[in-house]
Amino acid sequence: MVKLLFVCLGNICRSPAAENIMRLLVDQAGLSDQIFCDSAGTSNYHVGSPPDDRMVEAARQRGMEFVGTARQIEYRDLQEFDLILAMDRQNYRHILRLDPHGTHHHKVRMMCDFCQTHLDTEVPDPYYDGEAGFYYVLDLLSDACAGLLQFVQKAYLQKHSQS
Ligand code: 4NP
Repeated sequence: MVKLLFVCLGNICRSPAAENIMRLLVDQAGLSDQIFCDSAGTSNYHVGSPPDDRMVEAARQRGMEFVGTARQIEYRDLQEFDLILAMDRQNYRHILRLDPHGTHHHKVRMMCDFCQTHLDTEVPDPYYDGEAGFYYVLDLLSDACAGLLQFVQKAYLQKHSQS
């Protein structure tokens, strides 16, 4: 099982969106027994909360049902997960700081590294933005998740099936 952890600040907007979109793509590809998706926040601001209503509504408009309960990332996540996807550079730095010896730093990547059509280098935080921000984040994450799925299949699944 390849384990993916999506990380943002609050774990109520961007990372649950990434987790839910990725899980949908994984299900559609028939890979749900091989790829596990979860998400977490670097802060504890919203621990226990469901995804933000505005994100849930934007997703619903796009035909997706988002679920989740916010939690804070901890060191154990860096041990347990194979890839940790940071939504922005602040998240990225925070994740690396959880692991001062750098044992797991090679697992931490920027989500936008996997975009195929968007040029963004970070997923913008829509929390203080208007509704349009949420739709843009959904588009950006759909692009990045499609690229990520291709990467995981090449880098992990094909390798594993040969061994
Ligand atoms: P997220 O968005 O990191 O995408 O979940 C945010 C949610 C809450 C806050 C900031 C960003 N906040 O400051 O409470």
